[in-house]
Amino acid sequence: MSDLNTNAFWMPFTPNRTFKSSPRLVERAEGIYLYEKSGRQIIDATAGLWCSNAGHCRSEIAEAIHQQAKTLDYSSIFNFGHELGFEYAERLVQYTPEGLNHVFFGNSGSEAVESALKIALQYQRARGKGTRTMFIGREKGYHGVNFGGISVGGIAPNYQSFGQPVKANHLRHTLDIERNAFSKGLPEFGVELAEDLERLVAFHGADQIAAVIVEPFSGAGGVILPPKGYLKRLREICDQHDLLLIFDEVISGWGRMGSPFASEEFGVTPDMITSAKGITNATVPLGAVFVHDKIYNAVMDAAPDGMVEFFHGYTYSAHPVACAAGMATLDIYEREGLLTRASGDIGKYWEESLHSLADLEQVIDIRNYGLVGAIELRAPDSLKGKFGGKASALAWDAGVMARGIGDALCMSPPLIIETHEIDRLMETLREVISGL
Ligand SMILES: Cc1ncc(COP(=O)(O)O)c(C=O)c1O
Repeated sequence: MSDLNTNAFWMPFTPNRTFKSSPRLVERAEGIYLYEKSGRQIIDATAGLWCSNAGHCRSEIAEAIHQQAKTLDYSSIFNFGHELGFEYAERLVQYTPEGLNHVFFGNSGSEAVESALKIALQYQRARGKGTRTMFIGREKGYHGVNFGGISVGGIAPNYQSFGQPVKANHLRHTLDIERNAFSKGLPEFGVELAEDLERLVAFHGADQIAAVIVEPFSGAGGVILPPKGYLKRLREICDQHDLLLIFDEVISGWGRMGSPFASEEFGVTPDMITSAKGITNATVPLGAVFVHDKIYNAVMDAAPDGMVEFFHGYTYSAHPVACAAGMATLDIYEREGLLTRASGDIGKYWEESLHSLADLEQVIDIRNYGLVGAIELRAPDSLKGKFGGKASALAWDAGVMARGIGDALCMSPPLIIETHEIDRLMETLREVISGL
């Protein structure tokens, strides 16, 4: 490692100078574990970046990728096609809520979001409501890094660095530690925060708004779960004002919450769902937007015969190798029951284990649902807003990869995690947090 030249690689979302002064490098991975070159084993308590849901280096997926790359590595997807793309899309929509029967493919969560925002605009124009061009997002929301995504997103530094290229306003976030500390599952208080949408509609006028986009739970914002009844109320207000509702399920999809999608888990059906990450178990980049029939049909019907209906797409939309990886991923999810595993005993065990850390004086809140969780730490004044990063660095040294967000340690382990592994994770975290 000492002879590794770290100069050329400009690392994303990383303090490059700090990292390069002491690189933390992963050599290989298997199951829920990462390994350094030295052989040191690290529990991957974040499933990579909330994405390796079936665990690392699954041989079935590797084999499918290999075979596909040897059979059809690539072929144009504009005006030509391949069967695999169609077969995969048909298979994917077996998992989506009723009515979301169409798939638009990209290569990442950011591209899925960008595609969904454009689809929303195209739909509004198609039905003669072309004044509806702005979007409503939410504070602390994360929707990737493209210009639309940062505009609707509500993570301050991402937003402040580049302004607001796409017209958007933001709902208040729903994190309320004072009222909801140590909630198990969905927090009790905060349904009234959905009424904030009424405020924004009254301010801008419904005839200006194309869509509302929220994550069912905020991941990168620090694992913020929706208060009971909140998402349902957002849906009602959207219906009342004829606004599209987009759920960004890039993290919450593919079993994280105990159902294939959080929409199903929470019983609220949006008009579009964005997806990525766990869709291929993070092996090959792939993003997707699941689109309701009413949107697809309106856009198709509005275009003259023989014309492209939607001027948007990526060279690698429905890339054959990504589709093959996605198919193999679905095989594993189905065979091992992973898409609902978090709603069973392991989710309960995760909840109880995580909350067993509540006795630590450094802990001011613990939040969880399915197989996701956050431990909010009491930060000293000098480290407020950055204490999670410190805890994450110490956890890494102790053999755990956990994500520091603000003053919280956030986790989303692979859905294959077993009880003894949760035990070991919590023992390590107890030691790390006690020493803070
Ligand atoms: C909810 C959500 N949307 C979009 C994205 C962006 O995905 P990507 O990094 O693949 O572009 C993320 C990434 O974490 C996410 O959590």
